[in-house]
Amino acid sequence: MSVDKNNAREQILEKQRKHLWPNHILYYSDPLPLERGEDMYVWDVEGKKYLDFFAGILTTSVGHNNPTVKKHINDQVDKLLHTSTLYPNETHVALAEQMAEITPEGLDTFYFGATGTDADETAVVMAQVKTGNTEVIALRHGYSGKSQMAMSLTGQSAWRMGPVHIGYIRHAMTPYCYRCPLKMTYPSCGVACVEDVKDVIETMTSGRIAAFIAEPIQGVGGFITLPPEWLQAAVEIAREYEGLVIIDEVQTGFGRTGEHWWGHEHAGISPDIVTMAKGIANGMPLSAVATTQEVAGSAVGKGLTISTFGGNPVSCAAAIGTLSEMKSKWGPDHSSEMGAILRTGLETLQDKYPVIGDVRGRGLMQGVELVSDRTGKEPTSLAANAMLNSTREIGLLIGKGGLYGNVLRIAPPLTANEAHIEEALEKLDYAFAQVQELI
Ligand SMILES: Cc1ncc(COP(=O)(O)O)c(C=O)c1O
Repeated sequence: MSVDKNNAREQILEKQRKHLWPNHILYYSDPLPLERGEDMYVWDVEGKKYLDFFAGILTTSVGHNNPTVKKHINDQVDKLLHTSTLYPNETHVALAEQMAEITPEGLDTFYFGATGTDADETAVVMAQVKTGNTEVIALRHGYSGKSQMAMSLTGQSAWRMGPVHIGYIRHAMTPYCYRCPLKMTYPSCGVACVEDVKDVIETMTSGRIAAFIAEPIQGVGGFITLPPEWLQAAVEIAREYEGLVIIDEVQTGFGRTGEHWWGHEHAGISPDIVTMAKGIANGMPLSAVATTQEVAGSAVGKGLTISTFGGNPVSCAAAIGTLSEMKSKWGPDHSSEMGAILRTGLETLQDKYPVIGDVRGRGLMQGVELVSDRTGKEPTSLAANAMLNSTREIGLLIGKGGLYGNVLRIAPPLTANEAHIEEALEKLDYAFAQVQELI
């Protein structure tokens, strides 16, 4: 049953309250039901237009309702909706072949699932199977999803519902340079905190780990950007203790961070397994685990794997359309170019508004950490919430995150051009002027 157009908003919210779990977090104290989208813009049910600088959590990578993606989806819908992984199908294997053209060298074999949670969990199991070890090193402030293992991998209390913790997962310090866990200053610190990875392995595990897992930029954690030399050193430590290196590119993948297809390439490291989801199929549910033939092959004979929805042909068709758009128009170079303009604009706002403590990120993934005073760096979630409300009022959607809920996450579809960025910066300027008054 559709809703009555006259008071669609109230009806949707009423049904949401009545029939959807109340622990679904909703943005805004007065939630925002959306109705349609086109490229960089979405419209709410009352017809108000918004410039989308959060892309459905970095997911509508090539723009809302992208015509090429839609055509791939529609053509597939006309042919076949579902197979399960029991039956090979052309779209599934075609996507794998096309993905292998952009995944890091050697990582040319794939498992396709439906969510990022599924991908991270599968990656860890593969590392356990391959190494014969069990323990896993994850990072504080990281986020991996909503299954029990993924919540255990996650390094933020707010996202670990219930008494969750799988004991074989341990968390090392993250190089959160703006709030250095060692109270040192980057780069003169020489990334000293990486030694914690070693300490955690030596003091909290058997000394033989299955995997080390990290996001090159911690997304939900507030766009904490791992210094390349930290990641290089952490990878060396993990390998010293037998661990495979899993890089979670769920937010950072597909050129978002600019210059490269994958966020970890800024550090020049070679992971054993890469997980991806979100932007892969422009919003259709799909995730992937990419690894080597050797790692994938190690699971043969150790147990069976099946996925009902994994590699769903419609989602795979959407991913093929998305990839073709990225490869031809909206690749890493475009993200670098647009990201540089966005970054300069945000730094200009930082000069103007003391509430902005830090601006960080890469490409079209920029975080703005808000503080009530720059010296004490007291986090202010109040300012972040006020920024979300204020930007929404004037037709701009942005995200937030971070352990303290005080980091604005700015990550538009990769189709953003200069005019979109200018429009977003003007709106942010207006909102910051209002919010600075509150602090
Ligand atoms: C880095 C990262 N990994 C994994 C996940 C889990 O993905 P999903 O919500 O699709 O299960 C997320 C979701 O935000 C994420 O940001």
